[in-house]
Amino acid sequence: MTTASAPGKIILFGEHAVVYGRPAIAVPIHQLSATVEISSISTSPLGTIHVEAHDIDLDAWLHEMNPDHPLAYIIHLTLDELGVHDPPAMGIKISSSIPIASGLGSGTAVSVAIIRSLSNHLGQSLPLKRQSKLAYEVEKIHHGTPSGIDNTVVTYAKPVYYERGRDPEIISLGAPFTLIVCDTGVQSPTAVAVEQVRKSWQDDRSTFESLFDEVGSIVRQARDCIERGKIIELGLLMDQNQVLLEAIGVHSPQLQVLIETARNAGVYGAKLSGAGLGGNMIALVDPANANSIENAIKSAGAVRTLTTEVIE
Ligand code: MEV
Repeated sequence: MTTASAPGKIILFGEHAVVYGRPAIAVPIHQLSATVEISSISTSPLGTIHVEAHDIDLDAWLHEMNPDHPLAYIIHLTLDELGVHDPPAMGIKISSSIPIASGLGSGTAVSVAIIRSLSNHLGQSLPLKRQSKLAYEVEKIHHGTPSGIDNTVVTYAKPVYYERGRDPEIISLGAPFTLIVCDTGVQSPTAVAVEQVRKSWQDDRSTFESLFDEVGSIVRQARDCIERGKIIELGLLMDQNQVLLEAIGVHSPQLQVLIETARNAGVYGAKLSGAGLGGNMIALVDPANANSIENAIKSAGAVRTLTTEVIE
């Protein structure tokens, strides 16, 4: 049996502006992961692949699946990349502890875990850069213009400073820091938020270009704070990024309630994370207060919360 996994992720700074060429920072969440197990099926002919993913009620043969289904798509893509056209028969079993459609990278982590397990199973493990590139192709199914940050952070499984078209830079941390990730429970497809921002940008390019520039400047300052372990300043930058995300138009009433609650409970900083219009918010906290802050945010209506320590 061959097993591989990939972590969940959150965007720390720079979402949306990153689609327009500004830098962004994302970190993996190691407590959450997608895992893929591949076992050989000696009784079936070459080329037959069985796919099982209980979380989404999938139990099917690959050749019966719509080739545009993201799981079928990444399996075919990986086999093509490896130049394997008639692989030995196998069963691919997918499981994940990452909540689906919540901005935590569940689909991306599944793609990366499939690429890794399949290439390892066939004895041709792929370098991270190629794994990330393949996972990027699947991101395009979800929304047409992905920046590439999601596949990058999930593949490299390290805090990354990312700018479209450049090699990702792994950020070394001056000190670990603690985040609470809080789900509003409002599902928000990335494609919808990205499309909304695109329309607004088309309507008023100069305003949006300067908003994106301001975000880019915050991201560069945030990188410096992370590298120097300046956690209090990092929290202030999160608040500033949030103001810009509100101007970009991806805020929501539910996010507002959770962010306000977090601030009243004494966090260093809080902002939405990912596409916005629902989905998650993140709060940077003193670990000594994490429990009480998490409880306050839960009482304010978060459907799921997770405290995570960001480490190298
Ligand atoms: C989604 O995790 C982050 C966005 O910036 C979209 C992207 O970067 O592709 C909203």
